[in-house]
Amino acid sequence: MNGNKTFKIDSIGSEVMKKIEVSLLNQKYPIYIGKGILELAGKKVQEIFSGNNIVIITDTNVNLLYGSILKNGLEKLGYEVKTIVMLAGEKNKNFETLSMIYKKLIKFQVTRTDMIVALGGGLVGDVAGFAAATYMRGISYVQIPTSLIAQVDSSVGGKVAINLEEGKNLVGSFYQPELVLIDPVLLETLEQRVFNDGMAEVIKYACIRDEQLFEWLFNIKNKQELDESLAEIIYRCCEIKKEIVQRDERDKSERMLLNFGHTIGHSIEKVFKYKKYTHGEAVAIGMHLISQKSEYLGLSERGIAKRIKELLIKFDLPYEIDKGYYEKISKETRNDKKREGGFLNLIVLKKIGEGFIHRIEIDDFNDFI
Ligand SMILES: NC(=O)c1ccc[n+]([C@@H]2O[C@H](COP(=O)([O-])OP(=O)(O)OC[C@H]3O[C@@H](n4cnc5c(N)ncnc54)[C@H](O)[C@@H]3O)[C@@H](O)[C@H]2O)c1
Repeated sequence: MNGNKTFKIDSIGSEVMKKIEVSLLNQKYPIYIGKGILELAGKKVQEIFSGNNIVIITDTNVNLLYGSILKNGLEKLGYEVKTIVMLAGEKNKNFETLSMIYKKLIKFQVTRTDMIVALGGGLVGDVAGFAAATYMRGISYVQIPTSLIAQVDSSVGGKVAINLEEGKNLVGSFYQPELVLIDPVLLETLEQRVFNDGMAEVIKYACIRDEQLFEWLFNIKNKQELDESLAEIIYRCCEIKKEIVQRDERDKSERMLLNFGHTIGHSIEKVFKYKKYTHGEAVAIGMHLISQKSEYLGLSERGIAKRIKELLIKFDLPYEIDKGYYEKISKETRNDKKREGGFLNLIVLKKIGEGFIHRIEIDDFNDFI
């Protein structure tokens, strides 16, 4: 699929590496996608960085698996490399971790001519990116995403943040990387549930922009076929994200499409206190529930909720919750969004592959759950 868009710019062994160029008002940067690209990271970093000192920021799990491959590869090319390891887990996406990172950067005498490389899932990308955005008023950074969510979503587009006790991602910035290197091989060590979490975001992209991708996912027969298709799937998701971010870097209009399933999803996460469902699972339920209702209200083509449900089941994702929770979820959403002036921008699908923003008054949200 999209064979005309896939061009050969480089190769790793027999594997073709794909390139996407993100072009924003004040900045351009490349995304490279290819199996085995971690081994080539040094070479790719050399193309965009002329300094000597690099700090890898990673988490405890990823460091054990891939920290030394990256460090050795960079050192071989003559870079002076230090590593900062944060604790894995969403609860560590906080000020304490950030403060630890700042202290280490100062101890390593890092200056604005040096570079940070974020090696990890969305957590590391967000925290390291925020550290890069703020340390000495901004230092360059590279994203090497290692989870599926990070490879198809968080490493592209420059949203970086940490959590507060009061809520997730409440302190952050828009700060674009200089380079994104995506190696699908790294996904082999991901826990299955974390991988499936990322598949929810892949399905989201297909739903809002790419019916062909939706069908393609539907027709994947087994794990081997999925593994073989991953680089192309990731490429297609990054293309969609890039196109949207290029038109709306600051999330004021079109970028909201990426929130398909997220309004209800966030409320589900909160109602279940971030314990029962992962982010992707909550988004999966959100995509299905909103589509059931938008179909019922005549906003969407008939049959889309069923198709979404079937695809979610295929990737071991949930699609419903006990109706007893609906009122709590609706209340949570209405309370949360009251702050945004009494209106809510819901993302619904006209049909598979075509999402749009449907603005409603917050009190009408009950119709959607
Ligand atoms: N900035 C954005 O646009 C954006 C978008 C979506 C999500 N996010 C953020 O991303 C975070 C969720 O991302 P996530 O699901 O990657 O979480 P995560 O980074 O916590 O990774 C999940 C788990 O997988 C482990 N892991 C990562 N890569 C691995 C690999 N290759 N092999 C084995 N284990 C690996 C991690 O150590 C962790 O235990 C949240 O904090 C969310 O807010 C940000």
